[in-house]
Amino acid sequence: MDNNHLNGLLRPKSVAVVGASATPGKIGYTVIDNLLKGKYEGKIYPINPTATDILGLKVYPDIGAVPGTVDAAIITVPAKLVLEVAEECGKKGVKGLIVITSGFSEVGRKDLEDDLVKTANKYGTRVLGPNIVGTLSNSDHFNGSFAPGLPLEGKASLISQSGALLIALDAATYTRKVGFDKLVSIGNMSDVDFADIIEFLEEDDGTYCISLYIEGLKDGRRFIESARKAKKPVIALKAGVSAHGAAAAASHTGSLAGAAKVYGSAFKQAGVIQAADLNDLFNRTLALSLQPGMQGDNLLILTNGGGVGVLATDAAEKYGLPLKFAPAELQTEMKKHMPEFGSSKNPVDLTGMAGTEWYYDSVHYALTDKWVDGLVVLYCETAMTNPMEIAGAIKRADVEVGNGKPLCVSFVGGEKSDAAIAWLVENGIPAFNAPDLAVNAIAALREYAKIHQDGGTPRFIPNEKARKASLEVIAKARAEGRNALTEIEAKQVFNAYGLPVTVTSLAKSEDEAVKLAKEIGYPVVMKIVSPEILHKSDAGGVKVNVKDEAAVRDAFQTIMKNAKAYNADANIHGIAVQEMAPWGTEVILGSTSDPTFGPTIMFGLGGIFVEVLKDVTFRVTPVSEEHAAEMLDEIRGAPIIRGARGEAPRDRKALTRTIVAYANMILDLRDEVAESDANPVLVYEEGKGLKVVDARIILTKK
Ligand code: COA
Repeated sequence: MDNNHLNGLLRPKSVAVVGASATPGKIGYTVIDNLLKGKYEGKIYPINPTATDILGLKVYPDIGAVPGTVDAAIITVPAKLVLEVAEECGKKGVKGLIVITSGFSEVGRKDLEDDLVKTANKYGTRVLGPNIVGTLSNSDHFNGSFAPGLPLEGKASLISQSGALLIALDAATYTRKVGFDKLVSIGNMSDVDFADIIEFLEEDDGTYCISLYIEGLKDGRRFIESARKAKKPVIALKAGVSAHGAAAAASHTGSLAGAAKVYGSAFKQAGVIQAADLNDLFNRTLALSLQPGMQGDNLLILTNGGGVGVLATDAAEKYGLPLKFAPAELQTEMKKHMPEFGSSKNPVDLTGMAGTEWYYDSVHYALTDKWVDGLVVLYCETAMTNPMEIAGAIKRADVEVGNGKPLCVSFVGGEKSDAAIAWLVENGIPAFNAPDLAVNAIAALREYAKIHQDGGTPRFIPNEKARKASLEVIAKARAEGRNALTEIEAKQVFNAYGLPVTVTSLAKSEDEAVKLAKEIGYPVVMKIVSPEILHKSDAGGVKVNVKDEAAVRDAFQTIMKNAKAYNADANIHGIAVQEMAPWGTEVILGSTSDPTFGPTIMFGLGGIFVEVLKDVTFRVTPVSEEHAAEMLDEIRGAPIIRGARGEAPRDRKALTRTIVAYANMILDLRDEVAESDANPVLVYEEGKGLKVVDARIILTKK
């Protein structure tokens, strides 16, 4: 998006309030009041057809009457007047509309919303909202909203889809001591959406960390793209993760793709750090806006109490940073700052005797030690120590070392400890009242650094030849009025994209089956091919381990007989004769078209793992080899792939390559393929590859 227009919206140099009111209690009054109280330095133009003075400002009857240019117009007139106002603003050359007014798509008036965007965009004017609280920027002393006031100053910026939540968080920034530079209410996202604002904030000098409260994205792919490009940390809290997409799915994959899973995966791909709840959003935002990323996994914990040390150790494991013993050299040094009965391992327990100097010395040394990638300092309030002095010592050591290693702190105690926490935060050190919160905060810093360490940018490679071959197969099925491919057809498509399917051919007669079986090599598998018989085994339509010619003839007759008995009207294409793949670890690959993110790929262990445990994971296509490898590791059954209980490890390379190829296939055929499964896929030992044994493709409705 043209940054100039977003600048006009979010950092305007002049602002009109259309629907400004002289009546206290009205939103049109509050917005003017907020602009004045925030000490906005740009021009303010209240617009109202009858008033002449609002809070001492000259009022204009319409926006056309305003002398000079207007960057942003805050709209506070009722919905029925908004189109007319948008037209006038467009004519005036206003860059952006901040539409506070409700009464659009959120109440079923999508038509009105579309007209609003069309009207504004006709003039190049962009629309924030409608149905928003407004937008606030501390750097610009701009409170263009009816929120209580500018938030506590800080380095993060928040984009919120809920206006009410933004108001609540705004006030809470003071009590929680988490500062923000900008708060942007995004509402119905009729025009400007998360991606636009993320791109804007990425360039914004006042923003070091981008925080998001998301209810639902409109264009998931654009979101991933903009977040992935961001060098600043992006953290998101996603609300509303029930009943999504999974309804009426024709494939296995479709029925397993819930919002929570797909969003979680998309966030990973986008390099977005996740917050578990509102408190977590605050805590992690605080850490990400104050401290640098943690470049390695070596976390050291310093404490004056065993109990909080154990709690922090548990938290470290929980948040993916399990503690390791400190190396000998570091332990020797730490021993100098503790009594005999202290512990120098990790957590380093300075004991309850630890005073200001011991804290200072050990923090100082720990930050300089080359093994340490990040430090968490814990303190329990004692009668012999002064929390503020301990806080001062920690800060002093950090400033003196000044080597950019991340540091998070937890003080547990009473008022004095709370005051010390507040002081630390004001002085740039994330501090919390519980040890697990400090560990969680540093884990967020580790996640952030990791995101920027793994390249993993996927590449989509269209495959002309494969696409042409697949479209021919698909066209034939469509011509017959089918929306599902047969197994043979689906395998032809998979094969065209380089997926290793079992050799499968169609036999229309018994003799043909014998000939094919000989070519493929015994033993073979034989399966009924009929668009009307999808559950082939239930129909008695499958014979495995067919060993010789006589058995082929016998199987052919039996399958035909069973199929006819199962469904007399079924249109039988013939019998598939296929290579009998040796036993391997069963996995499932699949794809679905997610309503938000489009073509999405799934991976999981097959059989009971997928049927009962739903142990699957998703990625939005395309997928890089790195992301494919992550998928193998993040299912609960991951040890089975790695080779559990004496089994040889499975062929990971073949699996990751297949996932990448599968993702390319469904992206290339996104207009044609709605859902697909490769189930089962049999995976062999390292170096021995895999085989797609069964395949299914459901076509898009045309
Ligand atoms: N140009 C400028 N001002 C105009 C106008 C025009 N063409 N037509 C009317 N106005 C004035 C009105 O005269 C009134 O000023 P007044 O107090 O001097 O009479 C002012 O605009 C507001 O109009 P009014 O009809 O009094 O509406 P309201 O203040 O009761 O409600 C909204 C307007 C926008 C606040 C209301 O429609 C709304 O949408 N509320 C919900 C907002 C919200 O919650 N947003 C989402 C948060 S998550």
